[in-house]
Amino acid sequence: MQELLESIYNECLPYTKKGKTADYIPELAKVNPDLFGACVITNDGTTYGVGDYQKKFTIQSVSKVLILIQAFIDSTSKAVLEKVTLEPTSSSFNSIVNLELKNDNKPLNPFINAGAIVTTSFISGDTADEKVDRFLSLIRRITGNNDINVNMEVFESENRTGSRNRALAYFMNSTGTLEDRVEMVLEAYFKICSIEVTCEDLAKIALTIARNGVNLAGEQMFDARNSKRLRAVMSLCGMYDGSGDFAVKVGLPSKSGVGGGIMSVAQANNGMGLAVFGPALDEKGNSYAGRKFLEKISDELDLSIF
Ligand code: DON
Repeated sequence: MQELLESIYNECLPYTKKGKTADYIPELAKVNPDLFGACVITNDGTTYGVGDYQKKFTIQSVSKVLILIQAFIDSTSKAVLEKVTLEPTSSSFNSIVNLELKNDNKPLNPFINAGAIVTTSFISGDTADEKVDRFLSLIRRITGNNDINVNMEVFESENRTGSRNRALAYFMNSTGTLEDRVEMVLEAYFKICSIEVTCEDLAKIALTIARNGVNLAGEQMFDARNSKRLRAVMSLCGMYDGSGDFAVKVGLPSKSGVGGGIMSVAQANNGMGLAVFGPALDEKGNSYAGRKFLEKISDELDLSIF
């Protein structure tokens, strides 16, 4: 496995030159676009890593999977799914247009920005920091990594330039879709997006989803039925408007973020967690080299669920 990872890594490294870092959040534009790493963890916890797999980066939209889990834990799936549906979209992750025109003003799914702002509003807490602390405690327990924290510079940067997310949130506030105070929800959403993780952390989260909610320490972190739901929605919506092409070429439930991370859940060999990090992004906001890496490893190990 280690050899395979190294050979795919070398093959995919040149693709870092094809993408570009997210520039709509100034702090992300400063990240070195040449970084690239990948990690695979098998069901018994054996960890294989290559390149920058222990380098920290911001989780960004990969957090949307755990935000949904925390919303299900703190409220009920029934209540959450009355405010956000589970339908794919061909619009970009921060699109505004569908909110007014489609789906009774509900976001189409929890993995676009509008949907994740709604699910964040379901996380318990009287302040933004209380919500963020609940999220941090979930991610730290899943990964066994107590060093996971918010990068406050990235948070400030997102908060300063987050007009589009504010537009989405304030519109949803006007339609009664948010469960909590709008500015508090936005602060929690921006802070959660700014949490720093490594590929290894993301691979552990993916493995926990593959193991129906049981982390490597053997603790049931969330309802097994929700793992099935997550895998389905990740397959249909996890790579935004690139989800169809990704399903054909990789065929693994996955979630990307503009920080350059992608996590993928494999059911082969009783479950495997995969994660890649490459901040140079393609035009849909997904890691360019990371996507190529996942295509190749899925092909080599015959991992596609289709
Ligand atoms: O809300 C935003 O724009 C970012 N904090 C997260 C977006 C993101 O990661 C979309 N990913 N591909």
